[in-house]
Amino acid sequence: MTNPKTHPVEGWAEVDFNSEPFLTDFKKVYEGMHAGGCPYAHSSSGDHYAVASHREIMSILKGYDVWKSKYGPALSYLETPGVLVSVDPPEHTFEVRIVADCFSKEIFESLIPDMEAFMQARLDEVFEDGAMDLHDAISVTLPLFVIHKLLGFPLEDEDGTSRIPWIREGIITMVGTMLDPDGDRADALAQLGPDHAGVQAAMRTQQMYAEHLAECKAKLASGEWQDDTNIVCRFLTTPGPDGTMLTEDKIMGFMNFLETAGSATTTIMLSNIIYRLLTEPGAYERVCADPELIPIAIEETLRLDSPVQGLFRTNDTEVEVGGCPLAVDTKVMLLWAGANLDPEVYEDPMTFNLDRDLAKVRRHLSFGYGTHFCRGAPLARLEGEIFLKAILPRLKNLRLNGDVQMEKRVPVLQGIRSLPVAWDTD
Ligand code: HEM
Repeated sequence: MTNPKTHPVEGWAEVDFNSEPFLTDFKKVYEGMHAGGCPYAHSSSGDHYAVASHREIMSILKGYDVWKSKYGPALSYLETPGVLVSVDPPEHTFEVRIVADCFSKEIFESLIPDMEAFMQARLDEVFEDGAMDLHDAISVTLPLFVIHKLLGFPLEDEDGTSRIPWIREGIITMVGTMLDPDGDRADALAQLGPDHAGVQAAMRTQQMYAEHLAECKAKLASGEWQDDTNIVCRFLTTPGPDGTMLTEDKIMGFMNFLETAGSATTTIMLSNIIYRLLTEPGAYERVCADPELIPIAIEETLRLDSPVQGLFRTNDTEVEVGGCPLAVDTKVMLLWAGANLDPEVYEDPMTFNLDRDLAKVRRHLSFGYGTHFCRGAPLARLEGEIFLKAILPRLKNLRLNGDVQMEKRVPVLQGIRSLPVAWDTD
């Protein structure tokens, strides 16, 4: 690493965010940072700091003049302009106005019948088997189904072959490089080589987006499709506050971002909820008996098992964090997952507790906060609700049915890779 901007700081934790010990026991790391009274870390592999204090993260997120998103949410410094999470106002204001138009409550709620039908069809397919890998069968497929409904293109090729395996592979490869210790994602991908399955999958996905964009343009021009046929048509026809339109590069960027942000995260959340219900004593029975507990079950899982560990901000001017002076343009990882375990905010933070106050639990930072607060949060919550309302009454005596494996290929996201479950079929 040439001319690092960061260095070990006395009293701060030294953490290798790509290491096996971190990936196996990351919550212990955050717990240790809080218990030691110094919720700051220096990364021992990549050139960055990290913050786990809820209060400090909120203060950074409110420090709009200093803390910027222009270098992107990953450890690498973005060189070409990104979208949404990678831009600052006024560009962000322009983009978010368009997204807000496409992500309204009405649009999300219009998806409910399709989501419910999707869940029932999936359960019909597997019910008589009495067992499945719930992660692959539903947690992966439901969010992709939803985001493709919004974007407006199918999850199958013309011959009916599912696109899910390579779409997932592409996402895992791209997001997997976000914490690349050298801070150079392009280089990390180049090192994998053009024949790498993940790189090929990512290229195939780009092709799919380009074809969809061309189809939307052609069908809008011919009048076959309308402004509201799908969100890509909306992007093509919705002016920003100053009357100008999104460029095609930006629309491609939106498709990339939304497919990943809308699916990989929600997939983790869905599997985590089932895992919590089946492993926390009495939780499954309580939620089955009282579906009113579904919202707190979703929220408490989001708090305790944040799908996104953390994302970066970069300081535009010299500033101090935790008493340490930071050079301009230092990457600082805001540990959403660590803030959610902050004992200053949550009593007994490591405990899953369905009796917590819902409003207080919702102060978790799993969806971020402020300017870049997750625009898909209401949709993710809706998906969680529909998912549970389909599974709990239908799969009686749901239980774990083998080893639960964790996904370790994507350090910035932490979740389950395989969730074998069984149920009674009589
Ligand atoms: C459990 C599921 C989800 C989690 C944990 C999650 C997490 C996050 C986080 C932490 C951010 C803030 C990024 C930052 O401040 O740097 C964010 C932003 C965003 N998310 Fe989500 N997300 C989820 C689901 C979704 C879904 C389903 C969609 C859309 C279909 C979505 C769309 C967005 C968008 C558009 C932004 C950018 C907001 C902006 O920059 O203005 N997310 N998400």
